[in-house]
Amino acid sequence: MAVSIVVGTHWGDEGKGKIVDYLGENAQVVARAQGGNNAGHTVIVEGEKYVFHLLPSGVLHPGKVGILGDGMVVDPSSLLGEIDFLRQKGKDVSERLFLSSKAHLVLPYHRILDGIYENIRGGGKLGTTGKGIGPAYEDKVSRWGIRVGDLEDEKLFAQKLRVTLDYKNLLLERAFNQPSLPYDKILEDYLGYASLLKPYIADTSRMIYQFYREGKNILIEGAQGTMLDLDHGTYPFVTSSYPVVAGSLLGVGLGSIPNLEVLGVCKAYTTRVGEGPFPTELRGGMGDYLREKGGEYGATTGRPRRCGWLDGVILRYAARINGITSLALTKLDVLGGVGPLKICRAYLVEGEEVDDFPVIPHLWDKCEPVYEEMEGWEEDISLVSSYYDLPSSAQRFVEFIEDFTQIPIAIVSVGKERQNTLVRKEIF
Ligand code: GDP
Ligand code: IMO
Ligand code: MG
Repeated sequence: MAVSIVVGTHWGDEGKGKIVDYLGENAQVVARAQGGNNAGHTVIVEGEKYVFHLLPSGVLHPGKVGILGDGMVVDPSSLLGEIDFLRQKGKDVSERLFLSSKAHLVLPYHRILDGIYENIRGGGKLGTTGKGIGPAYEDKVSRWGIRVGDLEDEKLFAQKLRVTLDYKNLLLERAFNQPSLPYDKILEDYLGYASLLKPYIADTSRMIYQFYREGKNILIEGAQGTMLDLDHGTYPFVTSSYPVVAGSLLGVGLGSIPNLEVLGVCKAYTTRVGEGPFPTELRGGMGDYLREKGGEYGATTGRPRRCGWLDGVILRYAARINGITSLALTKLDVLGGVGPLKICRAYLVEGEEVDDFPVIPHLWDKCEPVYEEMEGWEEDISLVSSYYDLPSSAQRFVEFIEDFTQIPIAIVSVGKERQNTLVRKEIF
């Protein structure tokens, strides 16, 4: 029996979807644990592109059980859209998909409040995805949330919506001078979603435990990344959930697992979408080049991603916070032809060299990267099928990261497609 958790090491978009799809072949169960449709996980199989926002990417493989865990916030129309999209592509998930009754619903006022909060922040905005994620988690914590399980009882759902919407409308009208939202319309829409979603609603924590006891391989697909974690990321420029490994276990309702495999997914350079500190960011020149060559545009919002050299300090921090046992290094192909390469191995902060991510936020913008310079390679490596066929400078790049983090790199990804994956150590 094995449980593996895939976790993003930086600010999301590390290529988790591609790696989960690759590993999904040997898993029987694939689960999302937290976050919502702020995530965008791209999988490309035989030229066909799939972007997952709520469904775990592993469900592309026929017969795999897909779980949307307790810690998620679920926008029902987005979920139904994804299920439909897959059906149209001949991939029916209806008999093998389960949605936690404990997950929280995203409601229309969450999306509206997300936009209002950003406007109020003005120049200090966070750059959210606008999907209502923060306000939905805010309601969960302040106990105003309405959960997926509430959809199973129409009367109960109608009552909860009435009380909550009265409060939200008060807020919208009196605090923000906005029109109130129509109760009848929201009720009708959500009862419509309820009738379509009821077959999927389950006690997923119990199911996962049973699968675990039966010895099935369970793959938990992290969303976002370590630096977007509500506690451990660059607060307040973070998401509203816990993308770190502890959040994944919490979010599927599993306790501590012996021999848990934690696979950190790390891009060969670093990107961030949205606002907030980013010590190795390259503005203009090389940053633009990496964005174009790597196709670094958000899978959820289409926004250009900010790009920079690989931040090794953050990688080591992510290894510590998550207990990473092996790494998948993605997008190594993008660095071909770039010239000499850099990896940030420390920061100079007010004249002092530090090798861990500072805990004090006002120091983040003062972190000047100290780089290890490395020889690049000219070749297109996307067609290479064995690690040992990579140019020696590409192998040195990989092995430097291994030495620096003291963590084995199990997978090297050299292209978008499933087969552009070099395996150095089996995960399942
Ligand atoms: P996620 O959110 O971590 O799943 O990552 P995204 O899907 O948002 O962004 C990763 C992007 O890189 C997607 O467009 C993938 O198709 C692409 N990708 C993943 N791995 C590789 C790789 O090794 N090489 C290249 N060139 N593209 C990759
Ligand atoms: P995946 O799973 C990259 C970022 C947003 C913003 C911040 C808060 O594809 O890696 P939110 O809408 O969550 O309140 O926005 O978090 N963000 C992501 N950035 N990848 C993601 O997911 C993200 N999910 C949220 O851009 O900076
Ligand atoms: Mg993404």
